[in-house]
Amino acid sequence: MAKYDVAVVGGGPGGYTAAIRAAQAGAGVCVVEMDRVGGTCLNRGCIPTKALLSCTGVLANIKRAEEFGIRVGEVKTDWAKMLKRKNQVVEKLVSGVEFLLKSYAIDLINGKASLIDKNTIAIETSNGGDNELYASHIILATGSRPAYIPAFDIDGKQVITSNEALDLAELPESLIIIGGGVIGCEFACIFAELGVKITIIEALDRILNTEDRQISQRMRGVFRKRGITIHTNARITKIKKSAGEVTAVLESGEEVSAQQAMVSIGRALNTQGLGLEKVGVEQGARGEIVVNERMQTNINNIYAIGDVVGKIMLAHVAARQGIVAAGNIMGKPDVMDYSVVPGAIFTHPEIASVGLTADKAKEGGYEVNIGNFSFMALGKALAMGEAEGTIRLVADAASDKLLGAQIMGPHATDLIAEVALAINNGITARDVAHTIHAHPTLAEAVFEAAEDVHGQAIHVARKKGH
Ligand code: NAI
Repeated sequence: MAKYDVAVVGGGPGGYTAAIRAAQAGAGVCVVEMDRVGGTCLNRGCIPTKALLSCTGVLANIKRAEEFGIRVGEVKTDWAKMLKRKNQVVEKLVSGVEFLLKSYAIDLINGKASLIDKNTIAIETSNGGDNELYASHIILATGSRPAYIPAFDIDGKQVITSNEALDLAELPESLIIIGGGVIGCEFACIFAELGVKITIIEALDRILNTEDRQISQRMRGVFRKRGITIHTNARITKIKKSAGEVTAVLESGEEVSAQQAMVSIGRALNTQGLGLEKVGVEQGARGEIVVNERMQTNINNIYAIGDVVGKIMLAHVAARQGIVAAGNIMGKPDVMDYSVVPGAIFTHPEIASVGLTADKAKEGGYEVNIGNFSFMALGKALAMGEAEGTIRLVADAASDKLLGAQIMGPHATDLIAEVALAINNGITARDVAHTIHAHPTLAEAVFEAAEDVHGQAIHVARKKGH
């Protein structure tokens, strides 16, 4: 039986990062993966959607070409070619991860793993073979999949999930998106730009409900202008299917019909068939694997990271958890801290946030100073023709330390990194304002918002009382 210091089950961003970190520290490592490495992020999530968003971004710019003094002829899109490009980007990254694992002498074992005991893993291979391996330490990183509601009868054809949406043979004329969360809104941007008539049905009172309320409202306005219909506070009682049409019946009695429907109502954790019960690995109420801040389960040589621990379902959180788990296994104690996790939503315009909103900071007992700045007043944003949006910084009034930021606007997902670094290192709004930011750049919005924390933004008209 093959023996390893560390066996990682699942080769997503959490799993492969943990494997590489353990190998860097000198461990003999294997990764057991039943599909290609890269997990949801590389194969069915972050990367393919961003590849498609790049296509629709080019299209959006071409549609506005006249504004930039460029006359273009008839614009035709080729969905099949967009998918091909997307698949090439994915292939490049997935094979890149395979190459990385090889370079660290990490064995990549193709098959479905389940625990036999706390040190033994059974592997069922795709050709029906069975293998076993021994590992001193095990890291479970099996991820998640789209959540299913039986009543929605997801058939992968008329009613689909984001998995199928990324490989549609043809674009539908119209699409109902059930769930106005992150996945729903990113896909709404992709498909609406390509001319698909989109209707979002959201059970809560606003789309993107994890974001600041003002940002949700602004995004709703942007979507409306783009012709996207949004139903909020809308519960679906039934989904009816007929040839070429799907109809969602709402609690209000209203009916919404489209050629297809995509369900994006959250994700379910991949814990079944892992042998957790057999070994006695503790699970929580939602089936999540319970871990301590060292990412260790109740079985002391078994760790778990990523979506499967049910904390924050983001690739960069999984990767950090992987580094923490590998560090602890390899004798470099480390703990997971969730207080400064940047969130990035790739809608158009983009949305990004980190740390506390003003409301959350006040709930936490802070007195806060707020700094706002609009991209409308920023030279670079105007030159780019991307001036929709704002940045808000939240600072502790007592210490001036930054507590949080919410950004909606061009390259918001890149700009958030500066604020994340600032919060993580106890940097004040004044420190940020005293840092020279290059001109003309979008980063000047962060500088101006930091100045505005003290009512001193340069490109904001004088406020009363200052
Ligand atoms: P989500 O939790 O973000 O949104 C699901 C939405 O569906 C919620 O607004 C919820 O109220 C709504 N909903 C639930 N049941 C419903 C029903 N029966 N009818 C109508 N609406 C209903 O989940 P989503 O969008 O599926 O994303 C899953 C995970 O993937 C999230 O944790 C997200 O953070 C992550 N993700 C992150 C991305 C990013 O960071 N850019 C991109 C895509 C996904």
